[in-house]
Amino acid sequence: MKQPVRVAVTGAAGQISYSLLFRIASGDMLGKDQPVILQLLEITPALKALEGVAMELDDCAFPLLAGIVMTDDPMVAFKDADYALLVGARPRGPGMERKDLLEANAAIFSVQGKAINAVASRGIKVLVVGNPANTNSLIAQRNAPDISPRQFTAMTRLDHNRAMAQLAQKTGKTINDVKNMTIWGNHSSTQYPDVSKTTVDGKAAESLIDNDWYVNEYIPNVQQRGAAIIKARGASSAASAANAAVDHMRSWALGTAEGDWVSMGVYSDGSYGIDKGLIYSFPCVCKNGDWEIVQGLEVSEFSRARMQATEKELQEERDAVKHLLP
Ligand code: NAD
Ligand code: LMR
Repeated sequence: MKQPVRVAVTGAAGQISYSLLFRIASGDMLGKDQPVILQLLEITPALKALEGVAMELDDCAFPLLAGIVMTDDPMVAFKDADYALLVGARPRGPGMERKDLLEANAAIFSVQGKAINAVASRGIKVLVVGNPANTNSLIAQRNAPDISPRQFTAMTRLDHNRAMAQLAQKTGKTINDVKNMTIWGNHSSTQYPDVSKTTVDGKAAESLIDNDWYVNEYIPNVQQRGAAIIKARGASSAASAANAAVDHMRSWALGTAEGDWVSMGVYSDGSYGIDKGLIYSFPCVCKNGDWEIVQGLEVSEFSRARMQATEKELQEERDAVKHLLP
């Protein structure tokens, strides 16, 4: 058996975590041979509820769960953490855009970035889920100057999974048939689900779908899926968000499949002309615990305009939180 790794999860008594923690503890995220110690962070009033969640984790008798830490102190939660999933933040309600949460949530990520910088493992892998995820990830990253910016990512895997599912349904195929999907940009209604390189059962997706459906239904439906869930459920996505977080971390830690890629919000190195330093969703391949932006994809004028629109939104979000970016 391997040595246990430390996985910090914030917002651990919230609705996403109620799915997420059980998936991590069962080995879905890091493999069935990797024991984990869960280091759970909550705000003080939620610690009682968190105790209940920990009791349920105990009651699952997960063979891979090597310990549980519960705390309201980020310096304890992130101590020696090898992985951090930053989920704890306010969700939006009906009629709100995710960036409307910036003011409420941004400060959380500057505090947590500083704590990660101070006490986490130097090899930590950070995934920000709490919205607006890309800009919150940027805030955490900029507050952790001793850790490589490549170690801070934001979740667009849920958008990626949504885009694959909607394409599979439209073409009458299964998820297994869909390869090389890309979400560019922000986890927001400006994101650009791009099927120009996607194949379905070996055929170019664009040859199987009508352009009018793609532009006027598919793209807006993927962009607005989070809002559609809130409208239907009365609360934002939880189990599917947890599933995407597990997928994101598993790809990063254990690698992506040969010939395919995934979408990850990562530190822009200027690839595809995107402003360096933004946390922007790119097509990525992962190997040996590291990610790389897929290079050399041809970008049409149609795609370029959409990639720039979502970049512009991220620049505006960054400017709105300048005071939190040392
Ligand atoms: P929730 O309200 O059910 O849970 C959030 C939890 O975070 C609460 O228990 C709260 O007490 C805790 N919390 C608040 N401030 C904290 C802090 N400073 N430190 C630690 N914990 C703190 O919300 P949820 O449904 O679990 O969603 C969490 C976040 O994830 C929201 O911002 C939501 O919009 C976002 N989200 C992102 C995606 C994505 O694809 N990136 C998908 C779904 C939801
Ligand atoms: C989602 O995409 O489901 C989440 O970001 C929640 C939301 O606010 O839409």
